[in-house]
Amino acid sequence: MLPRPPATDEPLVWISLGPADDYPVDEPLPIRLDRDEGRLDLTLVRQGDEFHVLGGLCPHRGAPLAELGFLDGEGHLVCGWHYWSFRLTDGGHSLLDSISIGRWPTRVVEGDLQVGVPA
Ligand code: FES
Repeated sequence: MLPRPPATDEPLVWISLGPADDYPVDEPLPIRLDRDEGRLDLTLVRQGDEFHVLGGLCPHRGAPLAELGFLDGEGHLVCGWHYWSFRLTDGGHSLLDSISIGRWPTRVVEGDLQVGVPA
């Protein structure tokens, strides 16, 4: 099952991902969160001081995007298997409006990177 990002008005729990400065720039990284309702595999992309947390699996054939994906330099995370691409800004497929890998909110609090998940 693909993970579900929180709705805009949904209460959030903020989970620490550690020091924001430790994350490399322009390199998709796997993020694994163990929640009561199950494991959440996500993809983290840092661009400068901006952080994007997107779904971890490609909805086409299930490729792990953090391991096989790459950035196209135009604001997309591209799946390395068949090159579907997803906007960093909202997780939407670059060509197909009905497809999205989702995007989770992030914040940095006193240097600590946090991701918001449904409460
Ligand atoms: S598995 Fe990602 S594009 Fe096919």
